[in-house]
Amino acid sequence: MSTHSSSPKSPNRSWSDRTLAIRAGSYRSNFKEHSEALFLTSGFAFDSAQHGADLFANPSLGNVYSRFTNPTVDALATRIAALENANYGLVTASGMSAIMTLCLSLLKQGDHIVCSRDIFGTSVGLFRDIVTRFGIDVDFVPLHGLSTWQNAIRENTRFLFCETPSNPLIEAESISDLAKLAHQAKALLIVDNCVATPILQKPMDFGADIVIHSMTKFVDGGGRCLGGAIVMNETELKDQIFSTMRTTGPTLSPFNAWVMLKSIETLPVRIIEQSKSAIAVVEWLEKQDWVKKVNHPSSKFYCPQQKKIVDEQMHAYGSLLSFEVEGGKEMAWQVIDRCQLFSRTANLGDVKSSICHSATTTHNRLTQQMRDEAGIGDDLIRLCIGLENPEDLCQDLSCE
Ligand SMILES: Cc1ncc(COP(=O)(O)O)c(C=O)c1O
Repeated sequence: MSTHSSSPKSPNRSWSDRTLAIRAGSYRSNFKEHSEALFLTSGFAFDSAQHGADLFANPSLGNVYSRFTNPTVDALATRIAALENANYGLVTASGMSAIMTLCLSLLKQGDHIVCSRDIFGTSVGLFRDIVTRFGIDVDFVPLHGLSTWQNAIRENTRFLFCETPSNPLIEAESISDLAKLAHQAKALLIVDNCVATPILQKPMDFGADIVIHSMTKFVDGGGRCLGGAIVMNETELKDQIFSTMRTTGPTLSPFNAWVMLKSIETLPVRIIEQSKSAIAVVEWLEKQDWVKKVNHPSSKFYCPQQKKIVDEQMHAYGSLLSFEVEGGKEMAWQVIDRCQLFSRTANLGDVKSSICHSATTTHNRLTQQMRDEAGIGDDLIRLCIGLENPEDLCQDLSCE
């Protein structure tokens, strides 16, 4: 957002993702360092009283205070926006604070939102238990199936919110169809693109108005820092959200931004390798007699209609998958507990592969009825495939 001598450079729109991931938003201070510097400072000094007054009146003229302007943080915001093919990016302390910031920026008492029920469990909690306390109505609908979205939209619907592909069932819906529905109703479409990453899917290209990320996941890729992002094209929207952030402070630490600036450089290479390994694990799982069903677009069990959507809007299928086992929760827990290589953790997107029981971890805040309706059974295991050799991963899952 700033034009200080060390602030991020605008990306060249013709660069490919691999170049943008390394060069977009890159900056160099007067010391001419090659790797982006870490500006671990809460405030910035003014040249004069007039300079301070000018910056306070217009923070885009330079850096003021790291709650709302910091070169390291701005560089990451520029880079993630470039990868999403969006005009503006803002980064936040976590994925949840990105969603909360949107709610605080866009909603008021009496508004209504329509939300996919197939979203991260804590996002369900935010919309269902917190947002509704402020006089805002929320309807949850299945991700796949446009008619239920259409029927849920009301005159006061402010936005539609979805994750496609979803976690943990990797379900999909057409972003362009959802955008059309939203725009007919003068509402916005917000897509949580955390599972796909901007490398595999760019929702703005299909008409989404706002894309959010938990950068904690694939952007960090090393399971170190929490972070979130909000990207959009409209200046008015960006100003509205920036103003909320400036006042409420869900700010990303410069240190976390710096870690992510480094890790995002390898995101395009990592996610493609991880997606390839996921296909190898899916193929292996499909051959096991204790596996009932595998959820991944590469699987023979995947819904053909949703596969068509995925093929239209994604470049590869991603590294998140889930599968159902014979023998219910007992068997699912046995499979999880016998793993020595997979990390038993709820985080995803790491180069270390992870395994978790969604019903009792990431989605435990959903009621039993919501989990049943969403298809998150006790026999479901979620995997996120990292960069280890996929043969070793299959060996680890094997019951022999
Ligand atoms: C799809 C999705 N969105 C949002 C979040 C929330 O992100 P964070 O944990 O960074 O707050 C998560 C976390 O797992 C997630 O999986």
